[in-house]
Amino acid sequence: MAPELRRVVAVGVGAGDPEHMTVAAIRALNDVNVIFELKRTTADLTAAREAIVQRFVQRIPPPRVVPVHEPHRDRRASAYTQAVSDWRSARADAWEQAIGAELGAGESGAFLVWGDPSLYDSTIAVLDEIRARGRVRFDFTVVPGISSIQALTAAHRIALNRLAGAVQITTGRLLAANGWPQGATDLVVMLDGRGAYRSALTEPVDIYWGAYLGTPDELLVAGPLAEVAAEIDRLRETARERNGWIMDTYLLRSRAAE
Ligand SMILES: C[S@@+](CC[C@H](N)C(=O)[O-])C[C@H]1O[C@@H](n2cnc3c(N)ncnc32)[C@H](O)[C@@H]1O
Repeated sequence: MAPELRRVVAVGVGAGDPEHMTVAAIRALNDVNVIFELKRTTADLTAAREAIVQRFVQRIPPPRVVPVHEPHRDRRASAYTQAVSDWRSARADAWEQAIGAELGAGESGAFLVWGDPSLYDSTIAVLDEIRARGRVRFDFTVVPGISSIQALTAAHRIALNRLAGAVQITTGRLLAANGWPQGATDLVVMLDGRGAYRSALTEPVDIYWGAYLGTPDELLVAGPLAEVAAEIDRLRETARERNGWIMDTYLLRSRAAE
């Protein structure tokens, strides 16, 4: 790598429990010149990221902390894929500007990524897009993080896969739109704003559900889906009213495959 090239690192910081920060993540945050602090519309997640920086960055002098204001995403847009792609490009604009303005030649900067950067997160795609534009030159690396799936399986004390079995990861949107995927036996569902597990109520499945995993608000429910779905509905509703938002992840495990 040319010595004058800027360096960016996408640091997975775990999905809620600060103790899920890895040694590599702590080292990366203490190594850089700049920490880009993403200001999101979900204030609680912004606060969680700020708390991680306060707790784990101990270098003196500390890295400069630079706020990056994230563009608003239109969640009502009917064309979902197009809306996400537009939002990604708008993020690339904001990050490109910040990297170009804040990192001098040879300097490095970090973006904190919720959970693991490889899982339903656009940080890597945004950094790729900025590099492809070619206006601001930098190299980037990725530090893996504990994902919400790992937090879920640990909280329920289960293995993610069954003996020599396969696991499919999908979204609430796809499950609600297409129903149970053909041939799947073990299904992890993320990004579910609507309780898509209800569309699997007719399947013989167990659910392992978790919300606000790794935080003091953590909620866990496990059991036959048909028996516990109403309880999950009720917990989601109450939690959403109390906190204004909910993040849940669950594993649906077919009993037919046993
Ligand atoms: C944009 S994705 C980010 C996933 C993240 N990169 C990861 O590794 O977990 C957001 C989704 O992750 C899941 N998620 C993230 N944090 C969570 C938590 N603390 N508890 C439950 N689900 C969580 C939810 O399904 C949420 O809709």
